[in-house]
Amino acid sequence: MTKDYIWWKDATIYQIWPASYKDSNNDGVGDIPGIISKLDYIKSLGADIIWLSPMYDSPQDDMGYDISNYNTIYPKYGTMEDMDNLISGCHKREIKLILDLVVNHTSSEHDWFKESKSSRDNSKRDWYVWKPARYDSEGKRHPPNNWKSFFSESAWEYDETTDEYYLHLFAKSQPDLNWENETTRNAIYEYALDFWFKKGIDGFRIDTAGLYSKDQSFADAPIVSPGEELQFCGNSVNNGPRIHEFHKEMFEKVTSKYDVMTVGEVGHCSREDTLKYVSAKEREMSMVFLFDLVSLGYSSTDRYQYDGFSLKDLKDAIVKQCNFIFGTDAWSTMFIENHDQARAVTRFGNTKTLDNTFKSAKLIALMQATLTGTLFIYQGQEIGMTNLPRSWDISEYKDIESNNAYQDLLKTHNISDPENDSRVKRFMDTLALVSRDHARSPVQWTADKHGGFSGTKPWMRVNDNYKEINVESQVGDPNSVFSFYQKCLVLRRQYKDLFVYGDISVLDYENPQLFSYVKQSGTSKAYVVLNFSGEPAKFESSVPGTLRLLNTNVDDFKDDSLSPWEGRVYLVEQL
Ligand code: GLC
Ligand code: CA
Repeated sequence: MTKDYIWWKDATIYQIWPASYKDSNNDGVGDIPGIISKLDYIKSLGADIIWLSPMYDSPQDDMGYDISNYNTIYPKYGTMEDMDNLISGCHKREIKLILDLVVNHTSSEHDWFKESKSSRDNSKRDWYVWKPARYDSEGKRHPPNNWKSFFSESAWEYDETTDEYYLHLFAKSQPDLNWENETTRNAIYEYALDFWFKKGIDGFRIDTAGLYSKDQSFADAPIVSPGEELQFCGNSVNNGPRIHEFHKEMFEKVTSKYDVMTVGEVGHCSREDTLKYVSAKEREMSMVFLFDLVSLGYSSTDRYQYDGFSLKDLKDAIVKQCNFIFGTDAWSTMFIENHDQARAVTRFGNTKTLDNTFKSAKLIALMQATLTGTLFIYQGQEIGMTNLPRSWDISEYKDIESNNAYQDLLKTHNISDPENDSRVKRFMDTLALVSRDHARSPVQWTADKHGGFSGTKPWMRVNDNYKEINVESQVGDPNSVFSFYQKCLVLRRQYKDLFVYGDISVLDYENPQLFSYVKQSGTSKAYVVLNFSGEPAKFESSVPGTLRLLNTNVDDFKDDSLSPWEGRVYLVEQL
């Protein structure tokens, strides 16, 4: 592989969820001035780029992924002046800033949609996807096809005014834009992209980047849930016929004019199909998120069918991600948390005791910082924030996806007494493991009331463990998860040929406790051994050469065995 050391390749990107980062004016909601007040903290962690989740004006049905105006700021988050200050505050500290580009859909409150909806002959009618109803033999009205939205229920919503349905792959307040229309595409480029590039931002995380192009036949999706009227639509809408044409156009017309990066969110597809988005010669996006690791245990058509995974599955997923770029001119990502995922330490580590929580959070840091691709850290991951307690009931869950899925369950099974229903209990068990809410609770800054996030009751409850897990108690403590992240990031930079760019080979596929691998670049090698279990594990290196310890998450260790959740990184010195 050619190492061209482009700035976004060896960068560490820190993701911020504005509602939950830091509340500066005590209204219970995080805001942009709150973020600005933490820029030195973010810099001290070692992050090079901030990815800010949507801060645009929005009714907040899907936490800002429903945008009603691309060029104004959600008033609770602040003003355009605050945003300008954030951009300059980042740049002053040599941090780059990327925003979220949400252009598969807008909010139904966007002026474009209001016009589109007003009449069939409005000039913006065709900016969204409108279709007539289907009627059955009894004359009953049905949606145009059987697609189920990603947030439950039909992907089509009937609109009385014009007697047609509009498409919404997510919530009904998130109508899909019609990318077939060139005028619409140009408006997207101008308002959603160029406006912000001109303000000096350094790129975008591109939301649902594989969904823009719909097959114009709008055929029914294949049956994956027999007996049900609505079917998973993912396979019908991902990687549509014109998707690469659209990305190439967006790149040529706008993105290529600036020195910026893009990282796309593209749903499940083969390596070959994914490479088409990110091969440098294709000129579409810099990289896309690879989901192998974070999707472990999920059914591909339903996130709430969660079966768990084995260590071997984890090894496979990591190798697949690291090898993704092998022999290509493409680039890739390494992330283990974001705003749509549960907390890594709960899913991949162990949170039975505080010691275990901290130790396994460090193990995850140790692993992630040695793996190939651009590294992403999600707010709170750097202090080992965990999932929310299982004891919390559905009223504490704020996410539209969690709530719709809950309502869907009650409706499907006609459940009238949820508190005593075993199916609901099981669903809550799953929610406690995989819900998106786990990532969205306020950042735990201090041991004070509300975790120091806000002086008033926050919009979402702070995790009960804020007294034990918070930033204040970790910064400056050499043994903390935070300090460990700092160290891992320094080493990742120092040995970037090995960790960021190097190739991986796994040494112990069948070992149910240990995960050991070699990262290699030319003749230099690092040997990594991680104990992903609550039991001690014997180990013996089979790598030729002398091992020099580079990093570990324990103070004391034995040469031939690893304690529970212990990990080590060695440099291999050639004989
Ligand atoms: C993406 C976002 C998710 C959002 C959805 C709809 O998957 O990551 O949070 O709900 O798009 O915009
Ligand atoms: Ca606020």
